[in-house]
Amino acid sequence: MEPKANLEDLSIKWKDNLAKWAIPDRILELCEDDPWQIPAQLLMPQARAQEKSPTMEKQLQLLPYQGTVLDVGVGAGSGSLYLAEYASEIIGVDQNSQMLDIFIQQGKQRGIRTKAIKGTWPKISPQVQKTDLVISHHVAYNVANIVEFIQALFDYAKSGVVIEVTTQHPMASLNRFWEYFYQLKRPNRPNAKDLFEIILAMGFDGVEYKEFKSKRNSDSNSYLPQRAELIRRRLCLPKTSLGQVQDAIEKIGLPSSSENALISITK
Ligand SMILES: C[S@@+](CC[C@H](N)C(=O)[O-])C[C@H]1O[C@@H](n2cnc3c(N)ncnc32)[C@H](O)[C@@H]1O
Repeated sequence: MEPKANLEDLSIKWKDNLAKWAIPDRILELCEDDPWQIPAQLLMPQARAQEKSPTMEKQLQLLPYQGTVLDVGVGAGSGSLYLAEYASEIIGVDQNSQMLDIFIQQGKQRGIRTKAIKGTWPKISPQVQKTDLVISHHVAYNVANIVEFIQALFDYAKSGVVIEVTTQHPMASLNRFWEYFYQLKRPNRPNAKDLFEIILAMGFDGVEYKEFKSKRNSDSNSYLPQRAELIRRRLCLPKTSLGQVQDAIEKIGLPSSSENALISITK
């Protein structure tokens, strides 16, 4: 029988695995712009398919009628703004004030009461009120101290927590490009199952895990130029090499569209 996973070991492994994604200094020196930044355009609610995903369904199930929502790492609000007609208020926390401005503007367009709080979760949590539903989409791979991040999500939820991440680390889809341009082998952990294992080891009841195909419209060819530019930036290639990135896409194909994983904790 396999020994039961220990929470401390799992969280150290999560942190160590994340640290391995650091870009080597010799390549980082070549960067003309921030390789980690994601263009706001790809995070817009409109870039996400309208049809209901398992995550959306779970959120609707956990949200009481006209309840409140806290969206941690809200970005432009893709994970929560579609709840506009069912929620009385959506609070967005993000460390990036530009994203919060877009979130507020998108909320206004939908006539929903929104509140933006700038800061890093969970450090900012004392300034945040408890809500019915707490969600966090596509943020966990950015968080080294994952146990305290998850615990704070749980502590601020009255009915439940919904976390969505890609099944693989979001940068893993570019690994073939790192090999192509630099002959560099990149890591592929942590992944969504590692996160699920940590959440189980935290001892919550009512935990669910489900994988499903991502329906972001950004998978479509209409976003091709933005995606080529994003690959160029992610790989610290100069602006003049966009043509080479397009050649690489033709040779090795676009990064495959990722699957998503939903992890929910019902209280
Ligand atoms: C990939 S985007 C996802 C945005 C949105 N949740 C979505 O699914 O479209 C991640 C966002 O989380 C924010 N973020 C990352 N770590 C954070 C933290 N610890 N506290 C607050 N915001 C964070 C980033 O600034 C960014 O806006």
